[in-house]
Amino acid sequence: MKFLHLSCLSLLASFVSSESTFSPARPPAIPLAVKSPYLSTWQAAGGEGGNGGYLVGQWPTFWAGAIIGWTGLIRVDGQAYTWMGAPDNHPTPVNQTDFTYTSTQSIFTMDVGGKVTMKITFLSPVTPEDEKRMSMPFSYMVVDVLSRDGKPHNVQLYTDVSGEWASGDRNQVLQWEQGSHNNTAYHKFYRQNQKEFAEDNQQAAWGNWYYSTADTQGLSYQSGIDTNVRTQFTKNGLLQNIKDAKFRAINDGYPVFGFAKDLGTIYWRPVQTVFTISLAQKNAIQFTNSPGNAEKLPSLWTSYFSDELDALAWFFADKNNVATACTALDTKVEGDSRAAAGQNYATLTTLAVRQAWGALCLAGTTATKYLFLKEISSDGDIQTVDVIFPFFPILMYMNPKLMKLMLDPLYINQNAKVEPPTVTYAIHDLGYYPNALGFPNPNSPPEEQPLEECGNMLIMTLAYAQKTSDVDYLRQNYALLNQWTGFLVNESLYPQNQISTDDFAGPLPNQTNLAVKGIIAIQAMAKIANMTGHTADGASYTKTAQSYIEKWQTLGINHNANPPHTTLNYGHDDTWGNLYNIYADSLLETQLVPKAVYQMQSDYYPQVIGKYGLPLDTRHPWIKSDWALFSAAVASDDTRDKIISSVAIWVDETPIGAPTVDWYDTNGDWPTKGGHFIARPVLGGWFSLLALNQTGIPNHN
Ligand SMILES: *[C@@H]1O[C@H](CO)[C@@H](O)[C@H](O)[C@H]1NC(C)=O
Ligand SMILES: *[C@@H]1O[C@H](CO)[C@@H](O)[C@H](O)[C@H]1NC(C)=O
Ligand SMILES: *[C@@H]1O[C@H](CO)[C@@H](O)[C@H](O)[C@H]1NC(C)=O
Ligand SMILES: *[C@@H]1O[C@H](CO)[C@@H](O)[C@H](O)[C@H]1NC(C)=O
Ligand SMILES: *[C@@H]1O[C@H](CO)[C@@H](O)[C@H](O)[C@H]1NC(C)=O
Ligand SMILES: *[C@@H]1O[C@H](CO)[C@@H](O)[C@H](O)[C@H]1NC(C)=O
Repeated sequence: MKFLHLSCLSLLASFVSSESTFSPARPPAIPLAVKSPYLSTWQAAGGEGGNGGYLVGQWPTFWAGAIIGWTGLIRVDGQAYTWMGAPDNHPTPVNQTDFTYTSTQSIFTMDVGGKVTMKITFLSPVTPEDEKRMSMPFSYMVVDVLSRDGKPHNVQLYTDVSGEWASGDRNQVLQWEQGSHNNTAYHKFYRQNQKEFAEDNQQAAWGNWYYSTADTQGLSYQSGIDTNVRTQFTKNGLLQNIKDAKFRAINDGYPVFGFAKDLGTIYWRPVQTVFTISLAQKNAIQFTNSPGNAEKLPSLWTSYFSDELDALAWFFADKNNVATACTALDTKVEGDSRAAAGQNYATLTTLAVRQAWGALCLAGTTATKYLFLKEISSDGDIQTVDVIFPFFPILMYMNPKLMKLMLDPLYINQNAKVEPPTVTYAIHDLGYYPNALGFPNPNSPPEEQPLEECGNMLIMTLAYAQKTSDVDYLRQNYALLNQWTGFLVNESLYPQNQISTDDFAGPLPNQTNLAVKGIIAIQAMAKIANMTGHTADGASYTKTAQSYIEKWQTLGINHNANPPHTTLNYGHDDTWGNLYNIYADSLLETQLVPKAVYQMQSDYYPQVIGKYGLPLDTRHPWIKSDWALFSAAVASDDTRDKIISSVAIWVDETPIGAPTVDWYDTNGDWPTKGGHFIARPVLGGWFSLLALNQTGIPNHN
């Protein structure tokens, strides 16, 4: 499917005078370098804040919205053009003719004055089976240039990055240097006053940034005031090989770090130039693994390299290997998604991949390592259980073994009793990213979602063990799992007044969807008990879960409605809700929820699906698109396709030009960026169908 966005063109008059195609869709924001919570650079495309999906004419931004200077210029037969960013006094913009995205790549095609064609590929590797590559917050930009009109042309290529990458506080003073290591030329720049484990407006306040390319003939470099360096190139086609001597603030005569490459005479054969942008942090995360003991965890990649320059040069040289692996992953995701539910589904899953993986950080050593997740934008928490839960289908599909690395910090914290032992339910999170320090102070406890998080931990732990056959993990954590189940036996049938994960909707007692999660989780524990030889527990929990699900069907369903459906909460027959928690029953094959309940919901949803998706419940026209896709995964094919296509339409028509938001208004009545959840890893939940053994309504009753 190719979409044309003619309506956007008037906004772009000064930069763009021809139109681009977009395939498979024009996303809300285009991932450029998206590999970790701190390497997260995008080009806003749709709606407010976006320019319609063009690489030139607008600055890239950090996920949180601040400008991240990244510029591209090219000279063809002595005439200069701009192909990325919005520099002052920019030379003529190139004409973008196509944009295509895959799971790991964003690919722009440019027509430069009818003379040459440029293909610019932004590749942020996703390598689920390969922890070394996964652990590196490094990303590629690959520029191919060839003749368009069949004639030879003389070409020079230019690109720079600004100090804006290195801190979200533009008054911070930077230092920089230039060098070369093992044939990789680099600019290195960093905050002079390093603040480990701190953030400035969500950007990291520590670590060294590198902008690199091959150290070959025809390369020149320069650091200096942005306009000076760029003008040097547009006038002369090469840089002066000099370093700006005055270390200063990011916004003080904006220092930029530029490379120019003389490509010589280009003809039929594409000439390729590779650039990498990298963030090297020796330590990545602080983690309290026992009371009073906060450990500094190194970035996992430091285990594989003697120093960061070796890592840099290795990554640079690895481009062809990793591009091959990523293209294979792209093909698999697209093919599997199309086979499961068609092109609209593939449009969504392929868009979700970098956003989901971009919230992760592998930290520790090869012997003891963890996979941390940042709850980007909604709270900045680390290891939020009810954010891991909507994210986790993508891991179940791509590499379920990684789930252990994500659950471990939560189990270590709670087995070690880092928190005062006053609560019997599962913790909500471990603190604020990148500080997983837990909540040892009883006066500042974490947010409470007792029923939600007990259910999530049980469901995710069993799912991990089923997919990997790691029954030992269940044995090791049996005591905690059993304790949380005790809580659910007490609390899940009649949930007290509390918030669910959809906390923006406020607290409510007797929430039908929350209750069913707890009940499914009790049955999950029955399976866990049976798998680990605790047969008495297994029998007793099975009995409890079965009796609860019977009662729940009386309490939570309006049988008299036409068509019948579950309610938002017990006793309120005029309400309805998205019963997304039954997804876990299918994923785990707990066979607790009757097929009739799946069928009833599947038949009901089409009455309430809005223009842009299936809302959460009666209270608001708001959707959580992750939960909508959980329900799609266990609906009949018709309903599934309706939910998926409505979300795909929203992706294409979104009024919000920011990394895809998951919580929005299904009528389009919340068109501004303010208040939305941006760039969250919960898009991993769009992989709900692919995480199931079989898709659709389960074959049991
Ligand atoms: C872009 O396309 C317009 C319309 O076809 C044309 O006038 C203009 O010269 C092109 N610019 C470049 C840089 O190719
Ligand atoms: C330098 O690069 C070469 C070729 O890519 C590679 O074989 C060698 O291992 C690299 N050396 C270091 C120290 O990274
Ligand atoms: C369940 O309720 C019983 C009786 O009130 C109580 O003793 C027990 O501690 C509760 N279990 C949990 C895990 O909260
Ligand atoms: C929950 O529902 C039950 C059964 O309808 C009712 O007895 C109870 O009062 C409700 N709890 C709250 C807090 O409203
Ligand atoms: C657990 O095993 C018991 C028999 O010991 C069986 O009755 C029960 O159905 C099993 N539960 C599950 C969820 O498999
Ligand atoms: C899914 O399929 C795999 C492989 O066929 C099987 O081992 C597993 O038990 C199935 N069920 C779940 C819940 O993963």
